[in-house]
Amino acid sequence: MSVFNSSRLAGKTVLITGASAGIGAATAVLFARAGSNIVLAARRVDTLKAVAEHCTAAHKQSGVQAGGKFAVVQLDVADKKQVAGLFDQIPAELKDIDILVNNAGFVLGVEKIGDIAESDVEAMFAVNVLGLISVTQLLVRHFKAKNSGHVINLGSVAGREPYANGGIYCATKHAVKSFTGSLIRELVNTKIRVSEVQPGMVETEFSIVRFRGDKSAADKVYEGLQPLVAEDVAEEIVWVASRPPHVNIAEVFVMPVNQASAGISYREPKV
Ligand SMILES: NC(=O)c1ccc[n+]([C@@H]2O[C@H](COP(=O)([O-])OP(=O)(O)OC[C@H]3O[C@@H](n4cnc5c(N)ncnc54)[C@H](OP(=O)(O)O)[C@@H]3O)[C@@H](O)[C@H]2O)c1
Repeated sequence: MSVFNSSRLAGKTVLITGASAGIGAATAVLFARAGSNIVLAARRVDTLKAVAEHCTAAHKQSGVQAGGKFAVVQLDVADKKQVAGLFDQIPAELKDIDILVNNAGFVLGVEKIGDIAESDVEAMFAVNVLGLISVTQLLVRHFKAKNSGHVINLGSVAGREPYANGGIYCATKHAVKSFTGSLIRELVNTKIRVSEVQPGMVETEFSIVRFRGDKSAADKVYEGLQPLVAEDVAEEIVWVASRPPHVNIAEVFVMPVNQASAGISYREPKV
């Protein structure tokens, strides 16, 4: 039984940034199953190609006639030239994008303010904020020209509530929340929809990146509780995209059952 109305997504074209792993990759597979065409963008092309293969298999298995066109595009959202040239890289048949999922994003480190490397500050802002803004500006121009489209931004519990040892990441996700809010207000007189999906803990490559490749430190983040998995968030994203055209889901805040806020979670004691 499907959680979304796939007929509304059949034949739509979706651009997903950060589609090579985690939430972005899982979202691509679900859109593929619903009969959407997808432009998969990220920096790791080989990984994107593997996700595109999963999309092809999911589409075949679904039996849905529409969709099934998948393109892989190398894109560093922090590279302004690459963003400006994005449409040149997209095959003609997929240029008419209907849905943008601004998913590329990451966190680096747990240092306290005062001890954070400037290069880490700049890297997080370059991707999570400036990259998301550049891609959105490009696609909003496209959506305005046809008076339709949907921007879905990946926010976070960190964009609703600051926490210690995540000062920069929280600031970037608060910026995403503010930017999303401005966009919703600016587009109120259009048919363009704007949504933000705000997950709590999701077990992906996210914490491995945060701990700079230290898998055991990453694993500790999820010790004693059941975090969300990428597919849980992908279901929310695809559900948001599959509402009727007059319905805009402005925000989805989705948490593991044992996480109440950024700083409050319950962990089963070790036996
Ligand atoms: N996991 C969580 O607990 C959690 C919670 C709340 C919100 N989120 C948000 O959800 C989104 C996805 O995170 P995830 O958990 O799926 O993490 P993930 O497994 O680490 O995936 C991150 C994705 O972003 C891409 N990316 C990173 N830098 C990029 C850049 N400069 N240009 C283009 N793509 C880039 C990566 O691809 P390449 O390396 O191939 O470029 C990868 O596909 C992020 O915005 C994150 O902040 C995650």
